[in-house]
Amino acid sequence: MEKDQTSESPHAASDVLIAEKLMVKLEKIMEEHNYQRSALLEVLQKAQEIFGYLDRKVLLLIAEKLHVAPSQVYGAATFYNFFRLRKPGEHIITICMGTACYVKGADKILSTLEQELGIERGKSTPDGRISLFITRCIGACAMAPNVIIDDVVIGKATKEGVIERIRKSAGGEN
Ligand code: FES
Repeated sequence: MEKDQTSESPHAASDVLIAEKLMVKLEKIMEEHNYQRSALLEVLQKAQEIFGYLDRKVLLLIAEKLHVAPSQVYGAATFYNFFRLRKPGEHIITICMGTACYVKGADKILSTLEQELGIERGKSTPDGRISLFITRCIGACAMAPNVIIDDVVIGKATKEGVIERIRKSAGGEN
């Protein structure tokens, strides 16, 4: 596998060390699954937990180790909303777009946020502070519509409430 020397920051050496340690962790997880192709989704999930997102290098390593075509790995990673292919922002907003939440107006919250933040779903603001994602049902339909802000689930969310909350979190007011 080709070496990827992308980092030009003064912390490049320590960044590489950390990245290598994380790669070892991922390798161990694949080993635990006996490098089975059938473990692809689980491995992708773990890889995202480890790295925070799935970049090209990680996807290629998984493809190589599990003997799956890179296009298939990429296809799985892009098919599920859960997976992130870009480095997330400091604050992550995820809107549940499952049926119950959709019916209760999750799409309107989403379009308001896209407008307010000036970004589309799946993207981060240019300053890297906020990322906006959507997900499928998170299993809290009774509280629809649900929005997750930095791991906190906001049930019966409203556009105004979510914007207010984002301003507080991203503005460091709490
Ligand atoms: S559809 Fe959103 S929690 Fe079920």
